[in-house]
Amino acid sequence: MGDTHRALECDGRAQSWATKKIPAKAQRKGEPAVHMTDQMRRLSTPWSIAFERSERIAKANLPPGIILDPAVGSGIHLASICIATNTVGLGIELDEEAARFSAANMNRLLPKGKDPRRIAHRIIIGDGVDSTGALSCLHSSLDASGIKSTPPIAMIHVDPARPLDAQNHTLDEMAPPLRPLLQAWLPHMEIDHRGPALLLDLSPRLSKKQRSEVDKILDELAPGVNRTWEWLSQGGGRIDRLSVWVGPLASSEKFRAIRMGPSAVESMISSSEQSLFISEKKTMPPRFDDWIVVVDPSIVESRLHIDWLNSYIDESYDPIWQRANLRRPVLVSKTPPPPALMSDPFVVAAGRVVAHRLSPPNMENAPTLARAAERAGVGHLVLRCEVDPELHPKIQKRLNKSLKGVDGSRGFVIDVPVSSRDGGWHVNFVTCSEK
Ligand SMILES: C[S@@+](CC[C@H](N)C(=O)[O-])C[C@H]1O[C@@H](n2cnc3c(N)ncnc32)[C@H](O)[C@@H]1O
Repeated sequence: MGDTHRALECDGRAQSWATKKIPAKAQRKGEPAVHMTDQMRRLSTPWSIAFERSERIAKANLPPGIILDPAVGSGIHLASICIATNTVGLGIELDEEAARFSAANMNRLLPKGKDPRRIAHRIIIGDGVDSTGALSCLHSSLDASGIKSTPPIAMIHVDPARPLDAQNHTLDEMAPPLRPLLQAWLPHMEIDHRGPALLLDLSPRLSKKQRSEVDKILDELAPGVNRTWEWLSQGGGRIDRLSVWVGPLASSEKFRAIRMGPSAVESMISSSEQSLFISEKKTMPPRFDDWIVVVDPSIVESRLHIDWLNSYIDESYDPIWQRANLRRPVLVSKTPPPPALMSDPFVVAAGRVVAHRLSPPNMENAPTLARAAERAGVGHLVLRCEVDPELHPKIQKRLNKSLKGVDGSRGFVIDVPVSSRDGGWHVNFVTCSEK
């Protein structure tokens, strides 16, 4: 066995070790129990996302071979792909403790039974970029279990760790780094006419420049191969996952936005072209009785906003993008949005303007804000505007307290940029009723 890497079998021994260290626990209701340190939990892909993706991967008709995850972390994403595709998994993890938990999680999650391939899954402790060291370790370990041949790699899934300050990191700071990783493993892949099957899980905060660097790496290493960029949101007002699906995993469209619900995809939009950058219209403050639609940022970040909105625009609904480039894209219109738009999963909230103010919500003015909303028939007000994250729950609590027992519709407060007389712009805090 190579001395740079050590192989772990995904068996009962791995599970007993893990159980003694940290008992297995479901991360969310209805999810399988797994072993994880707090650090691993922060880095891991939620089971619902891993599971949903794996079902899509299973439809891709992958070439024969095993699934490689060279930065396997908790192992739950690798296990979900192996389960859905009925294939053997190879995970590599630099951190020994995480690798041991990963082997235990693979054992917990993979179906039990007499399938002889059940003993072939491995987690290797070591550097995922060093394909030679990892493969030599895998060969020796499989050989010791009586498995003489080592299959090729059918697909790579990789979710590199990124620096905590993810806003400003470079691609080289991803661990493991993408280019050397792909260079090391592509020669070991089983590749058909569709090119290599890759799923790259990237930081949702990658800048446009960094995304084009990823495109450049793929253009060089997998020229002419289809790829689909995917922005996924779980509805919390941010992009939760950014990924690139390559070769057999790509669709015919190059760009896709997904709104994921608690366990299933609620809506998806895709296109071969991205729309032009939206020019925001920071005009007059929205008037009383104008309509505001707060849109999921994945629609704007993926630049699929025109395709998405086009199906809703007609002679009676012609909104402007009052804000397009921040966390909460906002559409403003004179007329109510069509009912189908109001119930679109990519819509975060929609309502009619009932009040405005220039100062942001704070602990002092929350009761006044609540009273103004109450006069407009609002009985529950949600803060959807930028406020200090530490104060946010406190102000929300104060609003809830001020409106306790008030019967009325749901409403929200949103920050809307408007033009100032001096040619600049300022923010208006607008209360909307969702009735
Ligand atoms: C974002 S996490 C992966 C999480 C995983 N998808 C999950 O669901 O648990 C990235 C992992 O890569 C590991 N890592 C970083 N550099 C590595 C390298 N060169 N080789 C192998 N693993 C590496 C880190 O220790 C970390 O556990």
